[in-house]
Amino acid sequence: MKGIPVTQCCINPSILSADFVNLEAELKRISNADAVHVDVMDNHFVPNLTIGLPVVQRIQAVSPVPLDAHLMIADADRWAPGFADAGLASVTFHAEAAIAPIKLARELRARGAKAGMALRPGTPVEPYLDMLSELDMLLIMTVEPGFGGQAFLDVTLPKIRRARKAIDGSGIGVAIQVDGGITEDTIARAAEAGANVFVAGSAVYGADDPEAAIDRLRQAGSETLRSSAE
Ligand code: DX5
Ligand code: ZN
Repeated sequence: MKGIPVTQCCINPSILSADFVNLEAELKRISNADAVHVDVMDNHFVPNLTIGLPVVQRIQAVSPVPLDAHLMIADADRWAPGFADAGLASVTFHAEAAIAPIKLARELRARGAKAGMALRPGTPVEPYLDMLSELDMLLIMTVEPGFGGQAFLDVTLPKIRRARKAIDGSGIGVAIQVDGGITEDTIARAAEAGANVFVAGSAVYGADDPEAAIDRLRQAGSETLRSSAE
């Protein structure tokens, strides 16, 4: 995900649904992924706890694919820059957890990471439209953050559409990532609305053959992106 292609279809499996005791082996099962999505939760911003920076650093050291960190943590201004320093391809903080999102996005970029900002399903995109040029990626959550395996919230589709319209209208290159409930059934709806980077946890790691699942998701997403562009 070097440049996070802004129109190309990317599939980023989430290791939240992987076997946490065998992470290195689990990473090898998704070698055809565009990036690996790493969910960091602090039990404050969301009611769940996963892994912190030391474990993320080890994943970064052994992963055959670039890392896409999704920080579901309070006080993002303080903690997110450390993840950029770890050499991750992209670091996404939540708008609701950042006091100075523009300053933080600039800091992430200055430290060599792509800057991502996430919105919970109930957070509108409009207050952030003027700062989209500070970002490489906008993550529109399609479930309430905190847990894998939840159902896709169709109520977020109009927000994806409005974000895509604003991005295309201003000519800035920002990818739109969606995260939560992405399956072979729902990916087309998200792609048609304007998303191009798709996180999938249970749909990839719950499959017998994760690489085949990635290929199927990529094909479904790409087809929709192609036909929407026509
Ligand atoms: C939820 C996480 C997601 C989660 C997605 O808070 O941010 O990345 O792993 O899992 P699925 O694809 O199962 O909804
Ligand atoms: Zn996530």
